[in-house]
Amino acid sequence: MSLFVENPIIVALDYPNADQALAFVDQLEPGRCQLKVGKELFTRSGPAIIEALTKRGFNVFLDLKFHDIPNTTAQAVLAAADSGAWMVNVHAAGGRPMMEESLKRLRGAGHETLLIAVTVLTSMNEQQLRETGINATPAEQVMHLASLTEQAGLDGVVCSAQEAAMLRGALPRSFQLITPGIRPSFAAQGDQQRIVTPKQALIDGSDYLVIGRPITQAKDPMEALTLIEAEIASIKP
Ligand code: C5P
Repeated sequence: MSLFVENPIIVALDYPNADQALAFVDQLEPGRCQLKVGKELFTRSGPAIIEALTKRGFNVFLDLKFHDIPNTTAQAVLAAADSGAWMVNVHAAGGRPMMEESLKRLRGAGHETLLIAVTVLTSMNEQQLRETGINATPAEQVMHLASLTEQAGLDGVVCSAQEAAMLRGALPRSFQLITPGIRPSFAAQGDQQRIVTPKQALIDGSDYLVIGRPITQAKDPMEALTLIEAEIASIKP
């Protein structure tokens, strides 16, 4: 069984607690989207939130961006998979041994959980990168770390939708691109600076679209989801 799914939408559950997250999720139909649990919700509600969501039939992307020595990261990745996560991520900057060990331990335990990496945080600009000792442009560093991730055997990377075309042109088609910063044509921009429509992101080679507020803040979340599905229907295989 492959854990790759047909539906490309991952809804970002940016809620401060499990009650609010579940009240929202109960308005959604499983099978129409995946769900992303991030650091705030997970830190407040713990692994029980993953169990509650998977019990409702949802695939859960646990977005904790692990970054530590190989043994510690691998054990954290394993713990995420044991708790039922469908997708989990690490920082590519943690290095090849860290990524390889995480993948090895995951697959060794029989988990098919998708393991992906974060390259350069989109909040970082060239000057901030230089301050951390990296003398490359963000785009160069993203390319570099995405290649390293692919060589380490991971399933893909999280990247800005604006980087998707560059990465898609350089990496195998099976390497998954997960892109936030998506705004459907009906939605407000919010605090996202560089936004791409769902359709454009898929045309540029994204495999999964991380979408938060356009769905979570909608009066009718299923209606918002349906509108997005209609926007991308023409380019789905
Ligand atoms: O509400 P919105 O669609 O902007 O939410 C996007 C989600 O993707 C949030 O959970 C945000 O933290 C995450 N994200 C992002 N940009 C990145 C990486 C992650 O917006 N570069």
